[in-house]
Amino acid sequence: MKKAFGILIGLLVITSLIVLVSAPCSSAGSEQKDPADIVMKACSACHDTGKVCKYLGKKDKEAWLKVVNGMVRKGAAVDQADIPLVADYLAGLEPGSKPVCK
Ligand code: HEC
Repeated sequence: MKKAFGILIGLLVITSLIVLVSAPCSSAGSEQKDPADIVMKACSACHDTGKVCKYLGKKDKEAWLKVVNGMVRKGAAVDQADIPLVADYLAGLEPGSKPVCK
């Protein structure tokens, strides 16, 4: 009986260790935001992403920063911290890139 209890505790300790070790890795993975995801969700709330598509390859990062900041002021759901990420992503897209363009 005592031995079985010891094994049970041992198993519990091992499982919690596995959870502790793997949890930070998996949460770090989900925190890594995908700018494409943000754009497709946040920039299609009021208008089509076609409006965004139209300017791919025409605006640099500075110009996109201005656009995204302006849209966030209107109510776009982009975290303040993600604005540069989104601007960088949009500035790097070729004209006609999917999924922003259809
Ligand atoms: C809260 C509503 C709203 C959201 C969300 C939104 N926009 Fe807009 N957007 C507008 C309105 C309204 C206009 C037209 C008026 C203007 O140009 O200021 C516009 C215009 C634009 C234009 C100019 C289009 C043109 O034909 O001149 C671009 C580029 C643009 N949005 C990009 C974005 C991007 C990128 C996002 C995501 C970060 C976004 N928008 C999210 C409301 C929004």
